Amino acid sequence: MCRNLSKYALIFLFLALSGIIFLLRNIHTVENWNCHTISALYQLQSRIQSSFIPVNLPTFHHNRTFCAHLGQKPSPEDELEERYLLDSIAWPGPPPRTSPIVLRQTSDPVHSLFAILPTKEGREWHVGDQLEALVQMHDFQGRPKHYGGDFLLARLHSPEFGAGLAGKVLDHGNGFYSAMFPLLWVGSAQVEVTLVHSSEAVAVLRRLREERPDRVFFKSLFRLGFLSETTLCNMCLPPDQQPLCNYTDLYTGEPWYCYKPKVLGCDTRINHAKGGYLKHLLTNKEALLFQSGVNIKVRIHASGPDRINVLPPRKDRAEVESSVKPEAIQLAPSGYYYEDSWRPLNGVIMRQFNESSAITQCLKNKVIYMYGDSTVRQWFEHLPAFVPELKQFNLHSLKNIGPFMAVDNTHNILLKYRCHGPPIRFNTVKASELRYIFNELDGLSGGPNTIVALSIWSHFSTFPVEVYIRRLRHIRRAVLRLLDRAPGTIIVIRSANLQALDPEVSLYNSDWYSLQLNEVLRAMFKGLNVLLVDAWQMTLAHHFPHALHPPPAIIKNMIDMLLSHVCPVTKKSHQ
Ligand SMILES: *[C@@H]1O[C@H](CO)[C@@H](O)[C@H](O)[C@H]1NC(C)=O
Ligand SMILES: *[C@@H]1O[C@H](CO)[C@@H](O)[C@H](O)[C@H]1NC(C)=O
Ligand SMILES: *[C@@H]1O[C@H](CO)[C@@H](O)[C@H](O)[C@H]1NC(C)=O
Repeated sequence: MCRNLSKYALIFLFLALSGIIFLLRNIHTVENWNCHTISALYQLQSRIQSSFIPVNLPTFHHNRTFCAHLGQKPSPEDELEERYLLDSIAWPGPPPRTSPIVLRQTSDPVHSLFAILPTKEGREWHVGDQLEALVQMHDFQGRPKHYGGDFLLARLHSPEFGAGLAGKVLDHGNGFYSAMFPLLWVGSAQVEVTLVHSSEAVAVLRRLREERPDRVFFKSLFRLGFLSETTLCNMCLPPDQQPLCNYTDLYTGEPWYCYKPKVLGCDTRINHAKGGYLKHLLTNKEALLFQSGVNIKVRIHASGPDRINVLPPRKDRAEVESSVKPEAIQLAPSGYYYEDSWRPLNGVIMRQFNESSAITQCLKNKVIYMYGDSTVRQWFEHLPAFVPELKQFNLHSLKNIGPFMAVDNTHNILLKYRCHGPPIRFNTVKASELRYIFNELDGLSGGPNTIVALSIWSHFSTFPVEVYIRRLRHIRRAVLRLLDRAPGTIIVIRSANLQALDPEVSLYNSDWYSLQLNEVLRAMFKGLNVLLVDAWQMTLAHHFPHALHPPPAIIKNMIDMLLSHVCPVTKKSHQ
């Protein structure tokens, strides 16, 4: 209908050069114009849009509190909790320096070493003992480091048993670290220590987190009739540069802003999308701290043997138990793999849901709501893929965005997924589908036939931790309200997991950011009637390479844990 534009080139030119301001002021009249004129205008619009980013990215005042202290003022208790949480994740930094960082003085995994420490009985370990590996960090010149703050991962594993567990790393603050492992299975076991980032690199990441929350930016399309404009959006925008549209959640005060379109009103926002990633965040010297194969996730070798043989528990078990030091209890991992199956240590007795009929049986008459980022979308995708009767209902949603829904009419099962609200970094979410998890939870009736699974972490890593604490506080309140009005509602929270890191990904999504968010998440939901699926340890303990979206074998273990919690073993079937 509107294909032949050439005839209207004159109109187009005329409008573009002289009439445009008049038209913009008279939107409603223009809406009724014929389609030829409109398509010409659309072309003009798209040219304007394509030049929008990153030409007019705002200049940030790079101070620490800019994003963190937006939104409602926290209550005194909230502030106290926030201070406690921030203290609990305090990370030692390199001592202050007068000259810029030089790579050769930073931690080098190749020059660093670890050694398995002998026990009182020499080199004899039993199930129930603790294994300690002492790590000493050196710089690129081979000199020992004298301060802490390196980000290390430790794992104990036995490929022949499909067994693995996450170690706890203690920073002694002097270049030495202890990796601690409880010994949970008999046989040979191997220690693996990895430098994720040097302490110098962590200091850079921390600076970026506090000062550059703008390093991931967002955009929204505004449209009315034939007019459209795209502007920049974020949790905080410098207010002194252009007028803002304020999309702050009225109930919780969760902030969100876009620059006001030049012509259109703030209520014409059509969608929300990831805008992009700022580049050139580092100096040349800092960039050397983030090199694949050099100082990002590189194995540290053992100075002697890296393996031990674990013997069956000592005969005198009572003695073992009384000799377990209180700090050892804190070191307890949340679970471990054996025969490639996750065995939680938090009370859930794991069942394996290998047959789709077992899953159907468990979820019969249940409604399952999944809210969050793409890591819980993986859970959503896993279920219909394994259970043919659970059919995805076509909501005409964009691929990978949602919302999504799957239904099994025969067994009365409903499964839904919806992404979390801003700062979601998905490509394009319709403004009408942009919801905060806490508001969604407030809309649920809940009850014993309702399961809620949440996963919210990855899209918060570019912001100061206060931003994440504030969001979790609102979600936690909504969870508690839901549990109060509908006791028996099953709530499951999936934590952050490790991912593949390269120099670029590190600056936005480093595991160091995820680690810190995870500790906050665990602390804030501790003691509540909520099941935490420890995706961090489940990806650390596994032999698969780290991936933002863990492979199906790990997802199956997570789903098995969810289902084992929903449908625990009965006494009879456990025997
Ligand atoms: C950070 O910058 C903003 C914007 O200029 C300013 O309002 C705020 O007071 C600054 N905060 C600090 C702690 O300097
Ligand atoms: C945005 O709206 C919220 C809620 O009405 C308000 O508290 C906040 O001050 C507003 N922000 C700005 C920059 O005006
Ligand atoms: C489930 O499948 C796994 C892997 O194929 C197998 O090791 C396990 O024994 C199975 N469990 C049950 C209960 O069938």
